Formats: sequence, C-alpha cells, structure tokens
Amino acid sequence: MNNRRIVIVGFMGSGKTTVAGALARQLGCPMTDLDSFIAEREGRSPAEIIQRSGEPAFRQIETEALRELLERKDTRVIALGGGTWAIKVNRALVAERDCLSVWLDAPFELCWERIVSAETVRPLAPDRATARMLYDDRRSTYQLSDRQLKVEREDSPTIVADTILNW
Ligand code: S3P
Repeated sequence: MNNRRIVIVGFMGSGKTTVAGALARQLGCPMTDLDSFIAEREGRSPAEIIQRSGEPAFRQIETEALRELLERKDTRVIALGGGTWAIKVNRALVAERDCLSVWLDAPFELCWERIVSAETVRPLAPDRATARMLYDDRRSTYQLSDRQLKVEREDSPTIVADTILNW
C-alpha cells in the first residue's frame, strides 16, 4: 500500500479525524478532513448546510467536494464524514482513485459519548435513538471498505495508526 492514499471511514465519533491526523504525522504527509474541506469551500460547516439547506443538498456538496479532493495529489490521508461512505457514488469515487479505505469500527456507546460531549454540532444525531438507528443502518455499507478495524475506548489514535501502517 506504499503510495496508496488512505481513506478513513466510520460513524460520527469513531475517531476518523484524530486517527487520520496520527497517520499523517507518522507518514510525514498532509491529511485532509472532508468536513473541514467542505467548510472552507462553502464558507459554512456541514452542520449549517444540513440545517439550512437540508441533507440532500449537503450530500451533493459532499460528493462534489470529495471528487475535488481526490483530484489533488497532495493529500495522502483523508478522513471522510460519517455519512460519506454510505453513498454509493462516493464509494465508487474512492475505489476509482485506488485509495485504501479503512473502517474504524467503534462501539455505538463510545461514538455516542463523543457525539454528546463534542463541540461539533451533528444535526443527523439529535438524540440517542436516531443516532443508534443510523449507526445500525450504516454498518452494512461500512463493511464494504477494504479493511475493518475494531477500535475501543482505550486505543489511542497513535496505536490505531500504527496498526494501519503495519498492514
Ligand atoms: C455526518 C457526519 C458528520 C458531517 C455531517 C453528516 C453523517 O461528520 O459530515 O454532519 O451523516 O454521519 P463526522 O462523522 O465527522 O461527525
């Protein structure tokens, strides 16, 4: 996987951005978080887009942003948003670009705790029951990633990044 780009997939709160950051540090290369990329490109955060323009509009923007990001050669590690991988066309874009997709399979409780305690607004996870349904719903698509990695509360981002790099 020497020169393959790595795309981190997983539910909200699974640790995608921090693991991508740890991976990039270890590889000595830049990483891009798709949500931040969207926020820069659009001048508003994914949460604001979803709240003001609706989820379908956000999904369109997300796919365009992903396509643009994958065109760039300077990013070796990409953290997707929690719903990006659930969309077929996005999975196809990642596959076309020969990226290695890695699913951070974190338990729901851990994701939910992080969702609740984070400053980031997650409009698609307004309460536990809605988040749980989305979590269960998306597992079958996350399973379509190239690699799956179970992550637990005690696994530091550096340990998780090490495991990925040792594959
Ligand atoms: C979403 C997850 C968010 C963000 C948006 C939609 C989702 O990203 O893209 O709020 O559909 O799961 P994180 O997974 O980084 O929170």
